[in-house]
Amino acid sequence: MKLWSNIWVWLHRIGLREVPVWFETSESITSEFQTIGKKLKIFRFIPNPFPFYDWIMGFYERVSNREALRGPILERARKIVDVGAGTGYLLSRLVKATRENQEIVAVDLSQQMLDNSESYLSKHYLLTQRTSFRQADCRTLPWEENTFDLYVSSYLFDLLPETELRQALKEMERVLVPDGYAILITMTTELDDIPWISRTFYRLMNEFYCLGYDKGRWNLIWRSLFAGYAPHCRPIALGSYLRDLDNMVMTYTKVSRVSLFPVRIYYVRKSHG
Ligand SMILES: C[S@@+](CC[C@H](N)C(=O)[O-])C[C@H]1O[C@@H](n2cnc3c(N)ncnc32)[C@H](O)[C@@H]1O
Repeated sequence: MKLWSNIWVWLHRIGLREVPVWFETSESITSEFQTIGKKLKIFRFIPNPFPFYDWIMGFYERVSNREALRGPILERARKIVDVGAGTGYLLSRLVKATRENQEIVAVDLSQQMLDNSESYLSKHYLLTQRTSFRQADCRTLPWEENTFDLYVSSYLFDLLPETELRQALKEMERVLVPDGYAILITMTTELDDIPWISRTFYRLMNEFYCLGYDKGRWNLIWRSLFAGYAPHCRPIALGSYLRDLDNMVMTYTKVSRVSLFPVRIYYVRKSHG
């Protein structure tokens, strides 16, 4: 009887559990990305014999990053911040999708990754006067409250341990103007609103992704899927963290994907408090 109930519990948790985070602090996450960043620099001038980080992750993350920026929210924003700009793919889409009177600030804790995102824009002829780069921590952003009309971030919150994630969300709430929006993309365990066939598939995919998660870059599944690089993001239920904020209202959310794994895009508005 006990065995059956354990199996039952286990079946119900497949693909919906939040695995313990691999990096315990932002600093250790960033030092990993710093190394990846250096590798990118070495490979920049070598014809690509093998997929490397920005290519492979860009390839996987492209669908959701593009999908997230569709819609009217972008047009209204004058001042935009992209937090955890990473290799700069989402940033490049932002530059493409906005106009001359819209200002964009790219933020990353790693200077190396910021340099990479700057050269990514430059390579694609997207470096403009209205884009700037700032090394900063998402937990303590160096701007006054009510500064930005739009806060975007992809694949950052699902890297952070819970306390840091909550701090980062509070900081997002602080720097946004009332009626300002956030567009957030994370790997997700929130799959309730999709048809059961896709839900079953995505739950299995989440479980598969999380197998050996604690082995980090030595995880065999990741090594084969991501050409040796470790994404380190993990599926989380960001909606439940967002609901704990005082002034943020989720206006819309939908499921997208990163390669075969489920991702959720959240559109969140700051209320007048
Ligand atoms: C997976 S990458 C983001 C990918 C990126 N959004 C894109 O479109 O390619 C995560 C980034 O978050 C950065 N990061 C990690 N912790 C951070 C923190 N506390 N504050 C700001 N950036 C952080 C890392 O350095 C890394 O560049």
